[in-house]
Amino acid sequence: MPAKQPRTPRPRTLRTVTGAGGQPGVYELALDPKRSTLDSAIRVAGLAEAAGFDALFVPDLLRFGAQGAIGAQEPLLYVAALSQVTRDIGLIATVSTTFHHPFNLARMFGTLDHLSNGRAAWNLVTSSIGEENYSADPLPSPPARYARAAETLEIVHALWDSWQPGALTLGPDGRAVLDRSLIKPIDHLGEYFSVAGPLNIPPLPQRRPVLIQAGQSEEGISLGARYAEIVFTSLPTLEIAREHTARIRSQAAALGRPDGLPLIFSSFHATYGATEEEAQRLVRERIDAIDYEQGRALLADMLGGTVDLSEAPLDQPLPQTLLPDIASINGRRGRVDIFSRYVRDGKTLRELIIAAQDTATGAKRARRTSWRTRSSSASEPAYWT
Ligand SMILES: Cc1cc2nc3c(=O)[nH]c(=O)nc-3n(C[C@H](O)[C@H](O)[C@H](O)COP(=O)(O)O)c2cc1C
Repeated sequence: MPAKQPRTPRPRTLRTVTGAGGQPGVYELALDPKRSTLDSAIRVAGLAEAAGFDALFVPDLLRFGAQGAIGAQEPLLYVAALSQVTRDIGLIATVSTTFHHPFNLARMFGTLDHLSNGRAAWNLVTSSIGEENYSADPLPSPPARYARAAETLEIVHALWDSWQPGALTLGPDGRAVLDRSLIKPIDHLGEYFSVAGPLNIPPLPQRRPVLIQAGQSEEGISLGARYAEIVFTSLPTLEIAREHTARIRSQAAALGRPDGLPLIFSSFHATYGATEEEAQRLVRERIDAIDYEQGRALLADMLGGTVDLSEAPLDQPLPQTLLPDIASINGRRGRVDIFSRYVRDGKTLRELIIAAQDTATGAKRARRTSWRTRSSSASEPAYWT
């Protein structure tokens, strides 16, 4: 009887993704002895799976109080737990390459792929916060973060591939047969890491989990174009999204990647109401509640943190001379780029503050909305970064 291969890779479909949810509520649940902090996430996961969503997504925040949120539980552990109460839905965990070692990353996502029977996906980020918690202060520059990310991916891929086809088979008696000659070290020695390998867990059900990348600067675009199956973006207008997609795809094509890759996902935040009027009223109320003095500081942050907007008139465009040199930004170059573009387009300070407010609160608001389908929505620009 011929030896059997343990698994054949399952087809992978990823069209609709929703937040795993549950994270903000964990603070109340943590105080409730009768419930688990995962309860609401399990409920959301069940509803999403029943509704036919392809994947659940868990973002990450590596600092207390960042973006106004109290915090975030660890995404990989979170989706690992959800893998045990779901069957088909994909599980996307956001994990930073700036603060993790590639051998651990290969094992952790490999283990998730096994735990979930081939449903793991990695949203790779390089992070612009959290350096003080990882012995990495000051935060390395964007080129250094992205160089480390690229080296990390080369290692992780080599580790996932370090068991060649046929290394692990099922013998006629149903027992695993290991052919050690097909399990090779990777002997990586690079700028950031030295990793001998091979990987110490069996080949993954998917061989390589789905790779998503989020980060919109020049360096981020290059990383996504080279490696990502999906680029997760947060772009405020269709025009900007089209340009961004064209830039990624043309770089990918120049690297010999097939047409139409990487796929591009865009985040979407909505304000829900029982009727169109209610949704519009909620949007107006939120805009009316903006504190424009605080908004000036928030917008300054969106522009890289060094501009002084305290004296600028609210209903006039900002002078372009205020714009920072993008190369001087160590944090979120992609976001500074978008806000600089708004300034060049002649948006008034008030409009810029409204856009900044949407950016800062979009993720929180989107998580707060109830899962129940309501009848209409008014979309607004908002993005995670
Ligand atoms: C759509 C999107 C989602 C992101 N989600 C996260 C996240 O959940 N956690 C995180 O640490 N960084 C996240 N980032 C931040 C990126 O990792 C990166 O640090 C930041 O965008 C700066 O890089 P950039 O200038 O290339 O965009 C996200 C970025 C984008 C564009």
